[in-house]
Amino acid sequence: MNAKYEELRQRVEDHLNRVTAQEWEKIPHPLRDAMAYSLLSGGKRLRPVLLLAAHELIAPADETALRFAGALEMIHTYSLIHDDLPAMDNDTLRRGKPTCHVVYGEGMAVLAGDGLLSLAMEEMLSCTHERALSAARFIVQAAGVRGMVAGQCLDLAHEGEPPAQDIVTSIHRLKTGCLLTAPMEAGLCLAGAGEKQLTAGKTFGQMFGTAFQIQDDLLDLHGNEQDLGKHTGKDLTEGKMTWPALVGAEQAQKDVEYLTEQACAALEATFGEASAFLCSLARSCTGRTR
Ligand code: IPE
Ligand code: IPE
Ligand code: MG
Ligand code: MG
Ligand code: MG
Repeated sequence: MNAKYEELRQRVEDHLNRVTAQEWEKIPHPLRDAMAYSLLSGGKRLRPVLLLAAHELIAPADETALRFAGALEMIHTYSLIHDDLPAMDNDTLRRGKPTCHVVYGEGMAVLAGDGLLSLAMEEMLSCTHERALSAARFIVQAAGVRGMVAGQCLDLAHEGEPPAQDIVTSIHRLKTGCLLTAPMEAGLCLAGAGEKQLTAGKTFGQMFGTAFQIQDDLLDLHGNEQDLGKHTGKDLTEGKMTWPALVGAEQAQKDVEYLTEQACAALEATFGEASAFLCSLARSCTGRTR
């Protein structure tokens, strides 16, 4: 599992390095530096790896899949840059380094996020693949006002309120689940998946995405700042509605494991043996420390 993850992660890393070196020269300074600072700062690259692995459930991941994977990582990085702004979560550490706005200022950090989002659109819409438009729609919808942006809205709007199950569930499904479901749908779509396969991928993404955010909440409570590359204890100080706050840390960990098994079962039922890598990846995240 680790060797396969490392292979896919490295493909994404090489692709992002190539794109930033070769295609970003016309972006003015210091915007280009701010965008590259956050994009090339060593995230786990989980979402692009998911996209490539989803594609490989059906066919080897090609250049189009790689370009979509890179675009999705740009959108995820934009979401992190904006999430860290003083007006949102007010965080000063991300991926082990000072946040974008700490280094480049708030205005430039807003623009770096805008820049990454628009470049991601450009990248997807420049693909001539016959299913590029359908795949792009999955990603753009997931990132937008019925997806991640909606989740971030609820996350902010309900700060300071006592946790309520329906609200935390919606926040997790939208702010995090959508950007983990999109790579499954887009990867499968590009590979020519049918309805049943798309539905299985979607279910996997939703369940795994929710488990991933519960784990993120748990790591904010009990994680190690050095491993995580971000400050801990922030959810409490910012008054965030989290799953551990609702059900307790012990139950939250059980829920992570239950959701992960549900995610794997959905994928296995449709893809059988071929789902082994994605299932072991999801299972390895239940004990993640970063
Ligand atoms: C952090 O995502 C934000 C969440 C949605 C939980 P990751 O934990 O995937 O962060 P990186 O990309 O590895 O930095
Ligand atoms: C962020 O959730 C989800 C995004 C859309 C970026 P969090 O605010 O919990 O993510 P971290 O803990 O800052 O990475
Ligand atoms: Mg947040
Ligand atoms: Mg945050
Ligand atoms: Mg968090």
